[in-house]
Amino acid sequence: MNLITQHADWLYLIAAILFIFTLKGLSSPTGAIAGNRYGMVGMALAVLVTLVIAPSPNLALIAIAMLAGAGIGIYRAKTVPMTQMPETVALMHSLVGLAAVLIALAAVHNPEQAHSTVQRVELFIGCFIGGLTFTASIIAWGKLSAKLAAKPLRGGWVKPAQILVAASMLGFGAHYFVTESLTSFWIMTGLSLVLGYFLIAPIGGGDMPVVVSMLNSYSGWAAAGIGFTLGNSVLIIAGSLVGSSGAILSYIMCKAMNRSFISVIFGGSMGGDEAAAVGEVVQKPYKSGSADDAAFMMGNADSVIIVPGYGLAVSRAQHALQEYARALIDKGVNVRYAIHPVAGRMPGHMNVLLAEAEVPYEQVQEMEEINADFSNTDVVLVIGANDVVNPAALKDKSSPIYGMPILEAHKARTVIVVKRSMSAGYAGLDNDLFYMDKTMMVFGDAKKVVEDMIKAVGH
Ligand code: TAP
Repeated sequence: MNLITQHADWLYLIAAILFIFTLKGLSSPTGAIAGNRYGMVGMALAVLVTLVIAPSPNLALIAIAMLAGAGIGIYRAKTVPMTQMPETVALMHSLVGLAAVLIALAAVHNPEQAHSTVQRVELFIGCFIGGLTFTASIIAWGKLSAKLAAKPLRGGWVKPAQILVAASMLGFGAHYFVTESLTSFWIMTGLSLVLGYFLIAPIGGGDMPVVVSMLNSYSGWAAAGIGFTLGNSVLIIAGSLVGSSGAILSYIMCKAMNRSFISVIFGGSMGGDEAAAVGEVVQKPYKSGSADDAAFMMGNADSVIIVPGYGLAVSRAQHALQEYARALIDKGVNVRYAIHPVAGRMPGHMNVLLAEAEVPYEQVQEMEEINADFSNTDVVLVIGANDVVNPAALKDKSSPIYGMPILEAHKARTVIVVKRSMSAGYAGLDNDLFYMDKTMMVFGDAKKVVEDMIKAVGH
């Protein structure tokens, strides 16, 4: 024990380095498992050192809280379906925010603790970021799990209300800073909870995954702020890592969806639901074929690129798809998967699905790696994807998705699109890819179509 107390800073440093390895590992599917393990060891070390160096900790209470938390966490991790991950993550962020608020309130009410001017600023920042993260995450969870209406809050009054609440919150925070008034601190905390609501309510349910990644960042900053309050260096480092990685991820997602980063941070409209309202699918001629036709075309191709999208996740067709791709590879076809960064409804959605089906990593390529290869490819199989292959993003300046990078499936020699109907995707837009001479639509549930294609390969 004494040894741990003497070397606490070094042990915290080791934990922090393990957290950095965690992020490094999580940046690729091959390193993800090792990354998770680094994180577990780092966190166990940080908790152990904190328990040892804490002045008179109430070990019984801590043990009860840890056992309850671990029990709920293990149960949830084992039972949550992949499609409910975004809302689960939102709920977890709400707890980080709440913890930050409770720690700040405990600190301001602690009669034995005088707070310097710098500490008062830290308390204020940690508490208000924690407060708004708490309510914003609860609203995000409600919208994602359909417990609250996904419809965005609209009206000319929303922006002024946001500004009024934010300004009042800062005002009460400043009053606390100058006078140390506990009443002002409580009012400031209450207003930060209201601000969390106003930040998220104007954003539509479909855009929540980007918001969740932003809240991930907020929860990290809240933890870092509380780390300053408690004088705990590992909490400051871990909070900053979460804060900055969440912000970078949100930026990448916004760029990939052609959304404004600033409007996400400040809770503005992101346009997705409006876009969905304006989009209309006009009747135009298109070609359609059967799963047998599609299997025949791919069986005779030299190269096939598979573009998975949200529909693949909905129909849970990833295992069948992997089996079909393996059958093609056995026939000598060069098969690869092309992943768009925002295909599906959460970051890494397609990577997770393909990893679940044990698709070899070397067959999976990111958009930047594979886009130049479409023009040399015989067949592209677009399966349950729509917006991420919509050429309007490149050509049509009036399109809401103009500027969003896409997988350039339209450049392949032949395109096969598997979906249930001609209806629009997430952005609510018609897709010219479906009407091209070289495109064949195969209608049906993705899993059923792929299973039929597997049977056709067996003929
Ligand atoms: P979408 O554009 O949403 O298109 C998915 C298509 O799948 C739909 O057109 C639908 O057509 C089809 N589909 C649905 N269920 C199906 C089933 N059971 N079997 C076969 N097809 C089915 O998907 P995408 O191309 O993956 O693009 C993702 C969109 O979501 C982008 O606009 C992106 O900006 C947005 N978004 C992504 C994220 C993240 S982080 N990934 C977060 C928020 C929003 P049918 O109804 O005709 O079958």
